[in-house]
Amino acid sequence: MMKIIHCVGARPNFMKMAPVMAAFSQHPDQFQQILVHTGQHYDAKMSDVFFDELGLPKPDVNLEVGSGTHAVQTAQIMTRFEPVIETHMPDWVFVPGDVNSTIACALVATKLGVKVAHVEAGLRSRDRGMPEEINRILTDQIADLLFTPSRDGDENLAQEGISRSKIKFVGNVMIDTLVRLLPQATERWPGLQQRLGIRAPFFLATLHRPANVDNPESLGKLVDALNQVSAIHPVLFPIHPRTRIRIVNGSLSGKVVLCDPLSYLDFVAAQSEALVVISDSGGVQEETTYLGVPCLTLRSNTERPITISEGTNRLLGDRVDSLAEEAGAAVARRRSEPSQLEYWDGKAAIRIAAVMQSLLS
Ligand code: UD1
Repeated sequence: MMKIIHCVGARPNFMKMAPVMAAFSQHPDQFQQILVHTGQHYDAKMSDVFFDELGLPKPDVNLEVGSGTHAVQTAQIMTRFEPVIETHMPDWVFVPGDVNSTIACALVATKLGVKVAHVEAGLRSRDRGMPEEINRILTDQIADLLFTPSRDGDENLAQEGISRSKIKFVGNVMIDTLVRLLPQATERWPGLQQRLGIRAPFFLATLHRPANVDNPESLGKLVDALNQVSAIHPVLFPIHPRTRIRIVNGSLSGKVVLCDPLSYLDFVAAQSEALVVISDSGGVQEETTYLGVPCLTLRSNTERPITISEGTNRLLGDRVDSLAEEAGAAVARRRSEPSQLEYWDGKAAIRIAAVMQSLLS
């Protein structure tokens, strides 16, 4: 019997860990699972609703750390996670993605001699100004098993001196969840469009990266650009709490339809109906690639280059002024068939469980 603690903390973790837990739960005689929520995200719309929709079990432990500076948040997760490990003494700690909860939990586990598996390892933007890039590099350096979503991840890790024997290319767990729930999500669109007061054709926008929203000048330029886009078609803009508190009241045009953060199923429904998605998110670049929906990424780099070379994503970099023009042109790139990327097939988590089973035998 292998005892595993899974750690989640922030919104993008939930859809990555749900399929992994489901895959292990197929083998209850081999795996005992414990779910720890750090509480990095705590609003119902950033956390609870995802547990319900994704079928994640209620966390066994909630560390309730909440918001704080990077140092405060990371330190509080570490302080509160250490006794959890000491109590349960797991064989493995699983951490997904690149948020502060990821590095904090990985660091605690490894220092207590507990093995760490990193789900979604090897992604690199090569931009050390991004907090997530630091979290990725450090987590990968201390992990004992590194599950990569695409082959570029394997190469990045090998270049950083990580032994090939620790690197397992299993595919994209976020796409596992998308494959499973897309039919359910699509069914929600008629009700959702009524509730939100939006009709196709429309653009969908999200914004939350510190580099875009923390500086009033950058945010102001993005608001102007979204206003210009909304002159072509309305823009649906579910707004992250970080961004909401920074947007100047009344600065957005009436054709930008603001709403609270959407649930997973609602957001997937909106992505698949949108003409083009405009975003600075990581996961959205992958989901739009799978869906064949054009994505304009409001960043100068991406840790997910496969979404550009084989998908529908384009980086806008500092050409924010040309957003409206780019959005108009991107409409023609919409694909009717989902992209076929290697191992973005709904079975990545099953491959992860198989790797862990092979360690048991
Ligand atoms: C975090 C991740 C980011 C991820 C994003 C997804 C890090 C460094 N960043 O960014 O990689 O893409 O989550 O959303 O881990 N807040 C609330 N309610 C919540 C959570 C946050 O109101 O439930 C507000 C607080 O004012 C908080 C701010 O949002 O200070 C930022 O939250 P934080 O967890 O620090 O980072 P995110 O910007 O959400």
